[in-house]
Amino acid sequence: MKNVAANIEQVSRFYGSGKSRLTALDNITFKINAGAQLALIGPSGSGKTTLLSLLGALERPDSGKITLFGANIDKMSERESADFRRHNVGFIFQDDALMPELTVAENVALPLILVKSAATEIKSRVATILADLDLQKFSQAFPPSLSGGEKQRVAVARAVIHQPKLLLADEPTANLDSRAAALVLNAIDKLANAYSLTMIMATHDPRVYKRLSKKLELRDGKLV
Ligand SMILES: Nc1ncnc2c1ncn2[C@@H]1O[C@H](COP(=O)(O)OP(=O)(O)OP(=O)(O)O)[C@@H](O)[C@H]1O
Ligand SMILES: [Mg+2]
Repeated sequence: MKNVAANIEQVSRFYGSGKSRLTALDNITFKINAGAQLALIGPSGSGKTTLLSLLGALERPDSGKITLFGANIDKMSERESADFRRHNVGFIFQDDALMPELTVAENVALPLILVKSAATEIKSRVATILADLDLQKFSQAFPPSLSGGEKQRVAVARAVIHQPKLLLADEPTANLDSRAAALVLNAIDKLANAYSLTMIMATHDPRVYKRLSKKLELRDGKLV
């Protein structure tokens, strides 16, 4: 039997209450094997971002159970889930969300600073990952001077620098042209394979999901 990275059992998530209550996720059950690379597809509003937020322990389900690498994340306190995220999860969002006042190298170093890695280790890991993604020339540049695709590749480096077990990407190529999107996807592929990451990527983009062997499809908060 394969190792299970995530076990999602009868998970629901609601927003609002009373008559305006909206079911964002409706009794979802599935497993993700360790090392799997999944595309999460479905129309706008189908619950993709909501599901990623639950899997990344950013939000909690209203009912059901989520086990991630053996830890029951729906029972954790805020503090425990923040600590769990720092060590186990990497996020890439639609917009890069880099800190404009920090250099590229400083942005990429942030997750390692949060887990209190040693300064020498931070320096060498940042240099290695920037070289891997052909970004070393931007090391001392500030994000506003980079193109959208370059910024998104920096965001990829930042999402995996601490070698999380799970990489969650929410429409990482939505704002990019084909060439920049391909470079970002190549960067994700390279690091996901190098670090044997389990990955889930939400997308509307056929350029993205045709590269991934497995698809998970949501419709109105249900898996189809
Ligand atoms: N914070 C919130 N408060 C209220 N409703 C929310 C909130 N977040 C999401 N929703 C609702 O939950 C449903 C699922 O939203 P979600 O963002 O997960 O969809 P999505 O599949 O990511 O869509 P998109 O492709 O547009 O990003 C939608 O109807 C949305 O309006
Ligand atoms: Mg979304």
